[in-house]
Amino acid sequence: MIIAVDGPTASGKGSISRQLAKHFQLPLMDTGLLYRAVGWMVVQMGGDPDKEEDALKGCIFDGGLLDDPVLRSEGIGGYASKVSVHPAVRMALDKRQRDFAYQTGGAVLDGRDIGTVIAPDADAKLFVTASADARAVRRFDEMIGRGEMVNFDDILADILKRDERDSNRSTAPLKPAEDADLLDTTDLTIGDAVQRAIAMVNAKISGRHNKDPA
Ligand code: DC
Repeated sequence: MIIAVDGPTASGKGSISRQLAKHFQLPLMDTGLLYRAVGWMVVQMGGDPDKEEDALKGCIFDGGLLDDPVLRSEGIGGYASKVSVHPAVRMALDKRQRDFAYQTGGAVLDGRDIGTVIAPDADAKLFVTASADARAVRRFDEMIGRGEMVNFDDILADILKRDERDSNRSTAPLKPAEDADLLDTTDLTIGDAVQRAIAMVNAKISGRHNKDPA
């Protein structure tokens, strides 16, 4: 079974995907980390994430980098969003994601284009979203909790900028697949959001079984 989870930054899709993977006992790939690794590599090489040829050079990285907490910073998220605009970068990361999705037994993948591009025939597709304000509050609380000095308006502005870049790029923009279930987490606790996500996946799977010819 393949479960595709897409949505904008800080929508809760990461936590939901982790819980789905646990519940359905499937391996999980956070595909944002691949783009983050490329962004990190480009900056380390002194390149410009807005330039396709520089970004492409960043696609060669050691797999161990994906476990490095350095990738999780807001700054690297911004570089990731920039490198992800380039079609050549998306192509370079495509096979790795498809191989993971179509492994025996299935998988959960979270990202921006899993249900539309990487695994268009996934068994269940969720598009997780929340208002920009709610997402900024979550990000703000998270960063304050880590002891970082942050300004709420800067975080909100950054989220809006990333939404705009991720949604309006020409290749594989952030958008729900036509057959995705929408999950708006604005007014939900993470626990409630996870329960709904599990129910949505179960409904999809049982619906599909009911349609299978006997
Ligand atoms: O999910 P995240 O915040 O870690 O993703 C960082 C950036 O990577 C995001 O702003 C856009 C890009 N990305 C993408 O284009 N496609 C994906 N499947 C995952 C992430």
